[in-house]
Amino acid sequence: MKIAMIGSGYVGLVTGACFADFGHQVVCIDKDLDKIAALRGGRMPIYEPGLDALVADNMRENRLFFDTELAEAVADADAVFIAVGTPSRRGDGLADLSYVYAAAHEIARALSSYTVVVTKSTVPVGTGDEVERIIREVQPSADFAVVSNPEFLREGAAIGDFKHPDRVVIGVEDDRAAKVMNEIYRPLYLNSTPVLVMGRRAAELTKYAANAFLATKVTFINEIADLCEQVGADVQEVAHGIGLDNRIGRMFLHAGPGYGGSCFPKDTLALVKTAQDHRSPLRIIETIVAINDQRKRAMAHKVIAACGGSVRGKTIAILGLTFKPDTDDMRDAPSLSIIASLKDAGAKVRAYDPEGMENARALLPDIVYAADPLGCAEGADALVIVTEWGAFRALDFARLRAIMAAPVLVDLRNIYEPESMRAHGFIYRSVGRSEA
Ligand SMILES: NC(=O)c1ccc[n+]([C@@H]2O[C@H](COP(=O)([O-])OP(=O)(O)OC[C@H]3O[C@@H](n4cnc5c(N)ncnc54)[C@H](O)[C@@H]3O)[C@@H](O)[C@H]2O)c1
Repeated sequence: MKIAMIGSGYVGLVTGACFADFGHQVVCIDKDLDKIAALRGGRMPIYEPGLDALVADNMRENRLFFDTELAEAVADADAVFIAVGTPSRRGDGLADLSYVYAAAHEIARALSSYTVVVTKSTVPVGTGDEVERIIREVQPSADFAVVSNPEFLREGAAIGDFKHPDRVVIGVEDDRAAKVMNEIYRPLYLNSTPVLVMGRRAAELTKYAANAFLATKVTFINEIADLCEQVGADVQEVAHGIGLDNRIGRMFLHAGPGYGGSCFPKDTLALVKTAQDHRSPLRIIETIVAINDQRKRAMAHKVIAACGGSVRGKTIAILGLTFKPDTDDMRDAPSLSIIASLKDAGAKVRAYDPEGMENARALLPDIVYAADPLGCAEGADALVIVTEWGAFRALDFARLRAIMAAPVLVDLRNIYEPESMRAHGFIYRSVGRSEA
């Protein structure tokens, strides 16, 4: 199949490279000239494990190409995927669909023969109808179908997730388009991946419902963690105890500083707004959004309490800035609110992240960046683990204890055992465990 991928970010680039690896001919397009120049030169514009090798292999095999203009690739394509951003719209929190609609206009002008236009971006229910209307308006004679194919990959594990998904969701109203989609995903059929063909609106809503459910699970265990701290129970024991129940499941039951990232915050908010607009409010999700917002500032207060009630003039060392490990994505990372709150309280903040510091500098210009974890901790009054990068799981505690101004360790990801931290001489605080 010939595929044009509009938008070469975290989703478009991974999806395009994986489709090429399935054997399709793929052109990844992006408006960002620097991104395309980097990709053509073999440099990855994002950090995603394994992506550089996958892109290089498929470029070498002449299956993966990059361009800044879509006209030629779209005219030639069996399927055009829209994988542009859908951030929160300023003011009302609905998904900002301006990039999707701009792409639809451009695609419409370039369509030649029968083409399947696929929204891979996360878009509110009904967006497919509007994409179809735009294309029809721009080119009334165009032969096309609009399909929804939401993406469920996780950054940091994106290639594995794309190639071995729990399921593929295809929202389609047209048999001819369904055949093209089946052909594109044929390698996954061979893997026995469930490919769910459903109505377009159901597919659009499935993506939001999935993210909202996962955000609910995270928020649920976070609130249980707070209760654990009050009653002297260990949230990890509780999470294990409920997670082994197959009806509940073990995933997404790790207590922490609140969910962040490029999807959960904006998707939960957009779903809340969509539901309100349709006079069918989702009160559970409204509450989840409110709880999660408050939680990030509450984590800063946990640090302040661990420092004896004040951080004014103190140096707080932050390990981990990205919203999760193995990505450089800083969008809506909990670190942003935690650091802002610590600075509001008068702290000096120094931070280290293995991959996120370049993106972080644009969002957090007035903190100090360290070259490594020990450099970050040197002279600090407290060390806070915000993101559980593998590199932070085996710190040299004797050195840390010796170089820090005060032995305070706040572990917002529960990666260490309270007893062993106490044995190293630390005042140790974590999430939902009785020492806190
Ligand atoms: N990041 C994730 O983990 C993830 C997972 C599942 C779904 N999604 C969804 O996928 C979509 C894309 O997310 P992302 O994280 O890849 O965003 P991103 O910001 O990394 O990438 C979007 C890219 O689209 C480009 N772009 C915008 N308009 C364009 C146009 N008209 N023509 C060509 N290029 C254009 C931008 O320059 C940018 O490079 C969003 O709707 C998101 O919600 C993201």
